[in-house]
Amino acid sequence: MSDVTIPPSDSLAVLEKQRSTAETFGIPLAVLLEITHRCPLQCPYCSNPVELDRSAKELTTAEWKKVLTELAEIGVLQVHFSGGEPTARKDLVELVKHASDVGLYTNLITSAVLLTRERLSDLADAGLCHVQISFQGIEEGLADRVGGYKGGHRKKLEVARWTRELDLPLTVNAVMHRQNLHQLPDMIQMALDLDADRLEVANVQYYGWALKNRAALMPTVAQLDKCTRTVVEARERLKGRLTIDYVVPDYYALRPKKCMGGWGRQFFNISPAGKVLPCHAAESITGLDFESVRSNHSIAWIWQNSEAFNRYRGTGWMKEPCKSCEFREIDFGGCRCQAFALTGDAANTDPACALSPLHETIFKQAEAEAGGETSRFLYRNFAGGTLESGNDA
Ligand code: SF4
Ligand code: FES
Repeated sequence: MSDVTIPPSDSLAVLEKQRSTAETFGIPLAVLLEITHRCPLQCPYCSNPVELDRSAKELTTAEWKKVLTELAEIGVLQVHFSGGEPTARKDLVELVKHASDVGLYTNLITSAVLLTRERLSDLADAGLCHVQISFQGIEEGLADRVGGYKGGHRKKLEVARWTRELDLPLTVNAVMHRQNLHQLPDMIQMALDLDADRLEVANVQYYGWALKNRAALMPTVAQLDKCTRTVVEARERLKGRLTIDYVVPDYYALRPKKCMGGWGRQFFNISPAGKVLPCHAAESITGLDFESVRSNHSIAWIWQNSEAFNRYRGTGWMKEPCKSCEFREIDFGGCRCQAFALTGDAANTDPACALSPLHETIFKQAEAEAGGETSRFLYRNFAGGTLESGNDA
């Protein structure tokens, strides 16, 4: 999903079946399918790995259909078609139709810029149940600059209107950071004007591309406080009209987020090349071998038995301070990808936790970056990133 952030997935319910061992986890009810890493946008906080899968590695139409059938058979109820930009795949309508035929609820997570009204209508006819469109701001100047795509904002507004005309439920995904947080009140109004059911106020999470762009994106503490107050006030005022989800950047928190609901507990996603992953950023952790849907193993076997899923499942892998901490079964030590990115060892306590020996240093670094002058983005692309020209202080 190129231009959206993924919220911690506490909201993704899990089917905990009664099984014989405590280590057995039920199949998640919702699964994220990253069907391609191709994307016309170049957002500097893209949640895709820095090493993107090229199109030659992508699963074929037949392989994705087989995956969809298998997911339905093992008890998955919802699939989120994501990317990169999922509409970059020519077979998207066919895949949505197949998902629908096997009984799956389908959500399209899109930047919207490649959609025509006709294609959106075809997707609706194929059984698409929900559309989520990401926005980079509330006006063309900033929004198109953040996405690195001229004309993108205008197109998103158009597609959002078509979505509602076709009677599809709409979620507006607003990815927030230092350079657009001042637009939050107008972003909420924009979601209302677009007749969205849901607004996701997702502060950027700092791994992958966002970590490379941290100095340009990190908000100040004051900005975040204001953002939280705005969300609290809007939730109250708009009760019954607009649901607002809120994801905060955990650098400024005392406790880390329960990332993905805990590693291998409530969530998995499938990469464009067919790797079954405990989270969208998992491939950034070196030394883990992720099984593919192209292997001889079933998806259920991979979820239950593969080494990568079991490595950080539960609490047995923890070192101090997590090992003896009273919160270890509440947050499961925070985010493994963030721990790896910031400490070099995914088994360390996530430095977002105040009990991590590195928390103070990281917090100070973030604070210094937030107060700094850097505004230039490193745009996401297959070449490893391109530095924005002429916008730096
Ligand atoms: Fe969570 Fe570990 Fe911090 Fe305890 S020490 S609060 S378990 S991250
Ligand atoms: Fe948190 Fe991977 S993004 S575990």
